[in-house]
Amino acid sequence: MNEIDCAVEKLRTGGVVAFPTETVYGLGADARNEDAVRRVFAIKGRPTDHPLIVHLASAAQAEEWAAEIPETAHRLMERFWPGPLTLVLPARIDVPRVVTGGQDSVALRTPNHPMALALLRAFGSGLAAPSANHFGAVSPTKAEHVRTSLGDKVDQVLDGGLCHYGLESTIVSLLDGCPQVLRPGALPLAALRDALGDGGIELADLTASIPRVPGALVAHYAPVTMLEIVATENLAARAEVLLVQGLRVAVLRCNQGLCGKSILLPPLPQFLLPAQPEAYARDLYARLHQLDHFAFDRLLAEAPPIDEVWWAVNDRLARAARGLSRVSE
Ligand code: TXA
Ligand code: MG
Repeated sequence: MNEIDCAVEKLRTGGVVAFPTETVYGLGADARNEDAVRRVFAIKGRPTDHPLIVHLASAAQAEEWAAEIPETAHRLMERFWPGPLTLVLPARIDVPRVVTGGQDSVALRTPNHPMALALLRAFGSGLAAPSANHFGAVSPTKAEHVRTSLGDKVDQVLDGGLCHYGLESTIVSLLDGCPQVLRPGALPLAALRDALGDGGIELADLTASIPRVPGALVAHYAPVTMLEIVATENLAARAEVLLVQGLRVAVLRCNQGLCGKSILLPPLPQFLLPAQPEAYARDLYARLHQLDHFAFDRLLAEAPPIDEVWWAVNDRLARAARGLSRVSE
């Protein structure tokens, strides 16, 4: 039996299978099987009121989950599926509320990864799948990240190599009139504007207190190593202060280009990320996972530019930083 058939058999009997997508690895279970979905919450340590995304083989399956599919949803699915866009729509009455965190809406997406699509086609129905990491930790962008953190708890890990985007999907709610971005992500805002026209999209208040999107919790996406975001011109001075305190400090810098200004730093380990937002996003989580192994006391991340194209990256970096400050200070 090949590994996809093997995974499908496990999913049909209530198993939990980690699989690659073009964004990050997902932790999949049959979205119609409440016990299997409960296992996903338990494995992640995720509060049960935080809804999961239902992954589909194609847009044709959306009507099995959504009570209503507005014209805008059809347009977005046609243009961006398979791809890194999740749509929140009114849920059909028969969608298990354990998947939607008790809400009457459901999040749907068709991932653009050959292995994910093969799995979904062979399975034939929706797979509820959050990112395959412990709740609050950095999402996995390689099978190895999943094996290290959850390997002994899941029934199978499908290895599809490095995730193309390395950052979660963009989430858009189509519940009330104007499409609303609930989470910035791998699909750029400019692409949505292009599809919907100017004024065709609203940005949610990501700091709103009700965690409809757990990504909006401060301690989300946090690595183990404490991280601070520091403006380029303050890096040297901040590093000196921490070194004097006897801390083991490393610096995560943007490579030459947009945010790469030449500065003189004290001698300490430096790690580079590309100065282009998509490439930076692709490498960020893998780099944070890797840096955790070095057990530095503090990681100083050079602040990327404040610009819309860096929105998703700045969002995840800010959460990583705030999550850690909460834990350690
Ligand atoms: O790229 C991705 O979206 C990855 C891959 C595996 O597809 N998945 C992912 O899942 O990031 P997760 O569970 O880590 O984040 C999904 C987000 C959560 O923040 C959740 O609250 C939101 O989707 N969500 C799901 N259903 C929702 C709903 N009905 N209303 C609002 N937000 C919803
Ligand atoms: Mg997640």
